[in-house]
Amino acid sequence: VVRIPTSPVLASSVISELRQIVGAAHVLIDPDVTATYRTDWTGRFHSEPLPVVRPGSTVEVQEVVALANRIGFHVVPQGGNTGLVGGSIPTKRDSVIVSTSRLQWIDEPDLLSAQIVVGAGVRLATLQHALLGTGWMFGVDLGARDSCTIGGMVATNAGGITVVRHGMMRHQVLGIEAVLGDGSVISHLNGLEKDNTGYDLDGLLTGSEGTLAVMTRVLLKLRPSQLRTATAMLGFPTVDAAVSATALIRRSVPSLESLELMLPSGIELVGSAFGWEVPEGMAGQTVLLVEVAGAEKVEDELANVCDALGTVMTADPAVALSSSARASLWRWREAHTAAIATLGVPLKLDVSLPQKEIRHFIDAVFRLPAPARPIVFGHLGDGNLHVNFPACFPKSTSEAIAAETHDLEVRVLALVSLHGGSVSAEHGVGVAKTPYLSMTRSASEIDAFRRVKRALDPLGILNPGVIVASSGD
Ligand code: FAD
Ligand code: MLT
Ligand code: ZN
Repeated sequence: VVRIPTSPVLASSVISELRQIVGAAHVLIDPDVTATYRTDWTGRFHSEPLPVVRPGSTVEVQEVVALANRIGFHVVPQGGNTGLVGGSIPTKRDSVIVSTSRLQWIDEPDLLSAQIVVGAGVRLATLQHALLGTGWMFGVDLGARDSCTIGGMVATNAGGITVVRHGMMRHQVLGIEAVLGDGSVISHLNGLEKDNTGYDLDGLLTGSEGTLAVMTRVLLKLRPSQLRTATAMLGFPTVDAAVSATALIRRSVPSLESLELMLPSGIELVGSAFGWEVPEGMAGQTVLLVEVAGAEKVEDELANVCDALGTVMTADPAVALSSSARASLWRWREAHTAAIATLGVPLKLDVSLPQKEIRHFIDAVFRLPAPARPIVFGHLGDGNLHVNFPACFPKSTSEAIAAETHDLEVRVLALVSLHGGSVSAEHGVGVAKTPYLSMTRSASEIDAFRRVKRALDPLGILNPGVIVASSGD
């Protein structure tokens, strides 16, 4: 049964205007069909039935945003819907989700300049695949690679598992084409490595989480693909020992590509969730997953650092060279998110801390009174920890956060603040962290955010309630 949404501004006349812009097949209104667009990956955030619009070009995006400005409805950009802070799920009834699923262009890579232009809706794995055999690769990689899109990754300034080597999305973006909140189009795809002419709009839109513009096309920097990759799991008796070891690893492993942390509780959960046997010697250990990539014999760097750490480690490291052996080590780290999800909808925190505070922060988190044991893991090389408390939210409802869950979140974030960290490292603010922005950014910074928002999106059309609370919230 096709039902027209009940919101007055999204009356049938608006739906028919949207159909004229993008074609009838690309305005989805059946609540069953739109269901997957209206719930986030974690299952925590839900919206009421509302239309999903799938423009096929920048011009169509521009016309949809112009219509939103004329009529006065909200536009929520959505890529792969893998975001973990609720930013791609509308909070207002008078919203339209603008899905980038048809913005799928991949240009030929420019091998001379090591650049490529891709549509915002291109999935990360599709880009990785397109670059195979060119001698180049893309510098950001993350577990959601099969679903997350380049537009979503730019919008969240995604990090992932190779930031120690190549930086976050911000370090890969050379230019952006986008429709701003007021309906105007900007396009800065000239491919110049150096272009100091005016404000860095690409930098401003990177990490703007759909609040300033709908990005349609991105010019990305490429990195040389490496001849050889080696991965190792190193087990330590304590968090303290593992964190201390990272100083030597950084110093003596120039080909370092990833430096990830897992704790015994997370490893145990992954093993029991998927029926996997923990790699030999790693049960009950604090584990560093270390990857190196470079020219031939790059594994020698790993062997040398393992020798140097010999007495500190609790067992022989597990080292893998072939892609299948490496995958069998990586699956322990990458399956954490899915394993946590098997227990119910978690409270997820993604925080960043100074290296010297990490061991104290983890200690303090484990001492907090909580309804569930925390699962802590993350990108240790970047000082980025993921703190998850499983099964904190009821499934399939939009109920407000329970008082004790809210209390727990406040306590963890207060610890983050106490230890000099940030309330979001790589997932963004979305709606989940909006109430806590002032723990990390000053009042004058937040005021500047609001003024930037007003300048580019004067009517507040785009993604209300994300990053800074919208007026009336
Ligand atoms: P969506 O979820 O669709 O949207 C995210 C935000 O971007 C929303 O605010 C949305 O409005 C906005 N947006 C999307 N597309 C556009 C566009 N074209 N223009 C303007 N705004 C837009 N994140 C990390 O940083 N590092 C990780 O290691 C990591 N690992 C993950 C592992 C798993 C298993 C999962 C499920 C998620 C993980 N994430 C990680 C989070 C998520 O994958 C990233 O935030 C990703 O960048 C989101 O991309 P998306 O296309 O799914 O965006
Ligand atoms: C990860 O690094 O695996 C992610 O950011 C996902 C998560 O935090 O669950
Ligand atoms: Zn992460």
